Amino acid sequence: MDDHWTVGRVAELAGVSVRTLHHYDDIGLVRPSARTAAGYRAYSADDMERLREVLAYRRLGFGLREVAQLVGDPSTDAAAHLRRLRGLLLERRDRADAMVAAIDRELEARAKGRKVTPEEQLEVLGARLYDTIGGAYPATRRTEPRIAARIWGALGDARTVLNVGAGTGSYEPTDREVIAVEPSAVMRGQRPAGSAPCVAAAAESLPFEDGAFDVAMAVSTVHHWGDPIVGLREMRRVARRVVVLTFDTDEPGWQDRFWLTRDYLPEFAGVLAEFPSLAAMADAIGARAEPVPVPWDCADGLFEAYWRRPEAYLEEHVRRAMSVWTRVGPKAERRAVRSLGDDLASGRWAERNGDLADLDAADLGLRLLMA
Ligand SMILES: C[S@@+](CC[C@H](N)C(=O)[O-])C[C@H]1O[C@@H](n2cnc3c(N)ncnc32)[C@H](O)[C@@H]1O
Repeated sequence: MDDHWTVGRVAELAGVSVRTLHHYDDIGLVRPSARTAAGYRAYSADDMERLREVLAYRRLGFGLREVAQLVGDPSTDAAAHLRRLRGLLLERRDRADAMVAAIDRELEARAKGRKVTPEEQLEVLGARLYDTIGGAYPATRRTEPRIAARIWGALGDARTVLNVGAGTGSYEPTDREVIAVEPSAVMRGQRPAGSAPCVAAAAESLPFEDGAFDVAMAVSTVHHWGDPIVGLREMRRVARRVVVLTFDTDEPGWQDRFWLTRDYLPEFAGVLAEFPSLAAMADAIGARAEPVPVPWDCADGLFEAYWRRPEAYLEEHVRRAMSVWTRVGPKAERRAVRSLGDDLASGRWAERNGDLADLDAADLGLRLLMA
């Protein structure tokens, strides 16, 4: 039995009790494949490998039943388990780093005597929203070439680009040197193979030297930041130029620009209540603003994308890739969807919005800030 280890020795090596090993044996999780002459359990190298996997998944918080499923999957070999464990551990490390950075920011604010709002305190939990909803994102969110052309045009001759709140990288140029910043582990995990290197950080505290990039860009993300103005100033600090695709709430009655918010989801205004004015954001980086119309057949499933295809908003998978619905909550969502469905069926929507049928693109408040 030279190539086997006794239960006592295994318990010692693994730092668990003999009782735990007996229990794993009893429930069939890790069965020692041999017995000594005296009838004691004896673990082979393969048994030890399986035990290592079980203990690693346990340490990551998986329940015994989940662990049994994971290690019992015949399509996953030892190398695949190691890769999965490695990914899970890196995700944890990134999350911990993001929490440390957020705590540092709060400590700094407190030291300067600045009052820290409850919203900012919850930011300590990082990109919670996108860790919850991010999994649904790739279903409909992708590059819209006409919007991409506007953004890439604004990048000019920049060679080095920082993409802040990069998500899955829909608007990342491929012909320049790009570094992405994305706080959500779920979003980072969904970046396609071969995309730009991505740093786990938040806009409000960019881990780069002053002037490190030719340009910093941010697309459809500023409204998610705990402090948009601080984040925009950070972009300005680390890059010589700044390009931001965001939303204009300056115009009185801006909620009425889009039939969805005007007639079905007035709660949208509440979602953006704390959002700074376009003028304040432009001011923070010294930018000018240009409207970005949304094409009628917009390929990127952003909130305004389906302004001429209203039936799309009745689709669950379409809504799940738009953060607004999660933010307004299930009650408002149910009411809006029911009411839109009724109006589409009765012809009321078409009556009210007949003029849209002739438009190829609509100005629904998207603005490109360029500094
Ligand atoms: C609507 S997605 C946009 C992603 C990408 N820019 C695009 O256009 O497809 C918003 C992204 O902002 C990220 N985000 C949230 N809070 C952030 C913060 N404080 N700093 C940087 N990014 C943040 C989210 O995790 C999410 O990936």
